[in-house]
This record gives sequence, structure tokens and C-alpha cells, in this order.
Amino acid sequence: MKLAFITGASSGLGKETALTLARHGFDIIIHFGKNEQGAMETKKLVEESGQKSYLFQYDLSDVSNLEETLENFFKDNKIQHPSVLVNNAGIHSDSPAPLMDYDQFDKVMKVNLYAPFVLSKWFCRHFRRGNKAQIINISSISGKLGNIGQANYAASKAGLLGLTKSFALENAKRGIRVNAICVGVVETKMIEGIEHLEKIKPMIPMQRFGKASEIAQVIKFLCSDDSSYMTGQTINVDGGLIRD
Ligand SMILES: NC(=O)c1ccc[n+]([C@@H]2O[C@H](COP(=O)([O-])OP(=O)(O)OC[C@H]3O[C@@H](n4cnc5c(N)ncnc54)[C@H](O)[C@@H]3O)[C@@H](O)[C@H]2O)c1
Repeated sequence: MKLAFITGASSGLGKETALTLARHGFDIIIHFGKNEQGAMETKKLVEESGQKSYLFQYDLSDVSNLEETLENFFKDNKIQHPSVLVNNAGIHSDSPAPLMDYDQFDKVMKVNLYAPFVLSKWFCRHFRRGNKAQIINISSISGKLGNIGQANYAASKAGLLGLTKSFALENAKRGIRVNAICVGVVETKMIEGIEHLEKIKPMIPMQRFGKASEIAQVIKFLCSDDSSYMTGQTINVDGGLIRD
């Protein structure tokens, strides 16, 4: 049985990833924060594709009870531990650095970096023995390029790349692979209302924004044996914007 735990699976990339992995035989643990309706919709669609799904609610802006909540969730539901963790949930809260207060910086770091650290640590301890396991971290081009008004977001996404490499090194011998995706601009709720984005489009070699499904397909590849010799890597999926 293949089981994936996906954070922020009630919308956008997380939802699309849940549906894509379900179509490829994964049962899904749908993590969500506040958007219960979105999570229920994901659950319905996963089950329509013939796979099992479970809902896991937790606000990732405070990780103090996260490990205990995970312990209880797996005990109460009597399900085995997954072999895939997708750290997808993320937020941005933009303003020029001189105007950014500590709470604004902290909240983004907590959801985007601290929570993936706690989740990765917990799952590395609990991934089933002998089972090939994967962690996929959803980073951003902002983590490589920086971005005006996004000191907090860019720092969190750059930090996620360091986390990816360190966890990859520490866990390679145990058969746990850890990779990251640097997502370009993708049409989801997250980018709604960001004014300067249209100016970015002409700078993208492919001259368009991405679709959630184009990220989900790469996640599916990283979750499969087709990528069995890859760990510690960052894949840019951004229409050709970053070429490193
Ligand atoms: N859309 C883009 O252009 C883009 C670009 C680069 C990176 N990303 C990254 O992709 C990931 C998914 O974003 P998306 O574009 O699908 O946007 P989205 O807003 O639809 O998804 C973000 C998800 O994170 C969850 N979340 C946010 N705060 C949470 C909290 N405190 N507790 C629990 N869950 C919380 C939300 O409920 C939501 O499901 C994010 O990590 C984002 O940074 C997106």
C-alpha cells in the first residue's frame, strides 16, 4: 500500500498533488489548516479515483503540539505510517523589509520552514522500515532569487533548500530520499491579488505562468522509482526562469 501525507492539500498545488498521486495508486492523508470545505472536496475527489483518504487538521503556525497530534492521529486511526511526505503548505505576508515587523517575519518562517522541519524530523523517525520513503519540499524561485517585499518568504524558502540537503545527507543510507522543487509563478489562490506579477510574465522564457498540474507531475516523478537515484536535489519548475 502506498500512502502520502500532503500538507495544505485543501487547495492549489496541494490539492492537485493529492489528486495526481491518488490517480497513481496512493492513499492520501489530507492535511489542512482552516479550509475544511476545501479538504472535504479533496477527500471526495481522491475517493472517486478509488483511493482511501484521511483528514488531518492542524494549524502549522504553531508547531508546539504537532508531534503529539501526529502520534495520536496514527494511533487513533490505526493506519500505518506513510512513505511520502509532501511539505507543501505555505504562506506569504509581504512588505518592504524596513516595515516588516517581527511577528510578520516569524509567522511566515513558522509555517514555511519550522513546520517542514518538525514534520520531516517526525516522519524520518516513523517512516516504515525497509520501505522506500520520500520527502518533497515545495520551495520557490524567491528562495533562490529573493524578491522585493518578501524578505520573510524568500528566507523561509531558501531555508527549505538547506533543510532538504541536510535531511538528504542524514537519511540517504536509510533509503529516505529528500528533494525540493523551486516553483515559479503558478496560477493558484496564492498569487491572486499580487499586482506586479503581469510584469514578470515577459521575463519567463515560456511567456506564461505554470499550472498546478505541471508541478504535481514533477512531485509524482519524485515520489516514484523513476527518480530512485535522486536525493538532495532542487528542481526548478518555472518555465525556464532560473537556469542554474
Ligand atoms: N502559486 C505560486 O505561484 C507559488 C510559487 C512558488 C511557491 N509556491 C508554494 O507552493 C505551495 C502551495 O501554494 P499554492 O500556490 O497552492 O497556494 P494555496 O494558498 O492554495 O496553498 C497554500 C496551502 O497552505 C495551507 N496553509 C497556509 N497556512 C497554513 C497554516 N497556518 N496551517 C495549515 N495550513 C496552512 C493553506 O490552507 C493552503 O492549503 C506553498 O508552499 C507556496 O509557497 C507557490
